[in-house]
Amino acid sequence: MAKSLRWVPFLLLLLGVLLVLGLGWIGSDKPLELRATSKASKLSKAKFIEQAKKIAFEVEMAISKSKTARYLDRSLTGNPIDDCWRRDPKWHLNRTRLADCGIGFGRDAIGGRDGEIYVVTDPGHDDPVNPRQGTLRHAVIQERPLWIIFKRNMVIKLKQELIMTSYKTIDGRGAKVHIAYGACLTLQYISHVIIHNVHIHDCMRTGHARVRNSSTHCGWRGMADGDGISIFSSSNVWVDHCSLSKCSDGLVDAIRGSTNITITNNHFSHHNKVMLLGHNDAYKQDDHMLATIALNHFGEGVTQRMPRCRRGFFHVINNDYTHWRMYAIGGSANPFIISQANRYVAPNNRYAKEVTKRANTSKNEWKKWRWISENDIFLNGAFFVSSHQKSPVTNKTTSWDPKTTADAGVLPCRIGSRC
Ligand SMILES: *[C@@H]1O[C@H](CO)[C@@H](O)[C@H](O)[C@H]1NC(C)=O
Ligand SMILES: *[C@@H]1O[C@H](CO)[C@@H](O)[C@H](O)[C@H]1NC(C)=O
Ligand SMILES: *[C@@H]1O[C@H](CO)[C@@H](O)[C@H](O)[C@H]1NC(C)=O
Ligand SMILES: *[C@@H]1O[C@H](CO)[C@@H](O)[C@H](O)[C@H]1NC(C)=O
Ligand SMILES: *[C@@H]1O[C@H](CO)[C@@H](O)[C@H](O)[C@H]1NC(C)=O
Repeated sequence: MAKSLRWVPFLLLLLGVLLVLGLGWIGSDKPLELRATSKASKLSKAKFIEQAKKIAFEVEMAISKSKTARYLDRSLTGNPIDDCWRRDPKWHLNRTRLADCGIGFGRDAIGGRDGEIYVVTDPGHDDPVNPRQGTLRHAVIQERPLWIIFKRNMVIKLKQELIMTSYKTIDGRGAKVHIAYGACLTLQYISHVIIHNVHIHDCMRTGHARVRNSSTHCGWRGMADGDGISIFSSSNVWVDHCSLSKCSDGLVDAIRGSTNITITNNHFSHHNKVMLLGHNDAYKQDDHMLATIALNHFGEGVTQRMPRCRRGFFHVINNDYTHWRMYAIGGSANPFIISQANRYVAPNNRYAKEVTKRANTSKNEWKKWRWISENDIFLNGAFFVSSHQKSPVTNKTTSWDPKTTADAGVLPCRIGSRC
């Protein structure tokens, strides 16, 4: 008995060694393929971020160059988009020039640049199934590229979502155009859209109705959330100099694999959930979302999501945050966020001083993310909680400048004079 017991420790040891080897074997063999793909996806993620940083750097350079130019020429604003077209008193003779003034990830959006001009004359008579000639809905369902302008001041109240087609510009310069008190804009499975100089507000839930999305197709729509601008599986979108407020859902929401988006020079106010970028935490296609948020003013009465990001790459540069109730920039599911040269003015509520908010994540997890603040200005106790910041990401050549956001929102452009 005692003799055979002598072997027990040895046998246990042997068993232990086999167990470790076995586990190691299971561990290394089965997930081998998985490991290889995760290595590859890590590589492609690194490459994606490298390319994104390059474009972010171009934006930084464009802004710092414009600011330098203003020192030499006081008639400039220091805003690279505005200085590209606004000084021309005959801007109305060359409206499409705007399409070449974009910056950031949505800079290639050409809208209706290569098409004719369509003049909207009729603000009323919204027929979602058979749109009348002269209405905005009739313009946006045409398959050919169009640069859409407005004959006079108008308030357009839409019965159902305005479902746009690709290669369209909505250009409100020269008139006061409000899209309000009804459904608002939907960009779905399309590309190359520019939305410029329109008021979008009081957008409401609609749906459960037939809506025409092209001259050849009219389909049933479910419930629409009531976003100001809903960007769904769409790319190359530029929203510039709009004033957005008071909608049922987001003011600008981009989801479901949308990418190459630029949101610039807008004025956001009186709204809770301002901007959602990314569908849900598990939606992998949003890994490739690229969005530039620049030169905007987040003003009175806004609460949160400026923006709220998931998964992709977000460059937030030279914006003015003068109000928020809960937080400014939020996110989940490991988004890459560069916050650069913004001004953050915290509210007086001492529990809402933090610019950032991570949702649905423990600190152990989010400390590995990259949320980076460089050259931002913090006032009234505002502070940014960074993640994983080792060396500078930007060149730090630009800092927040009040002149560049002073004209955010709709511009009062009059035909025949400088805008
Ligand atoms: C319009 O602007 C473009 C620059 O984007 C320029 O090439 C073109 O000559 C201009 N056309 C007129 C009529 O001024
Ligand atoms: C209109 O909707 C139909 C059905 O969803 C879709 O197949 C078609 O591509 C859409 N057309 C445009 C121009 O978006
Ligand atoms: C988005 O832009 C990048 C370059 O910035 C380009 O490589 C990519 O193909 C674009 N994606 C779409 C869907 O337009
Ligand atoms: C929280 O994260 C998990 C894991 O990534 C995800 O499955 C879940 O949908 C997230 N919840 C919310 C509310 O986003
Ligand atoms: C600016 O940053 C870019 C990319 O990070 C880098 O390639 C470049 O050398 C930098 N330029 C200067 C002047 O620091």
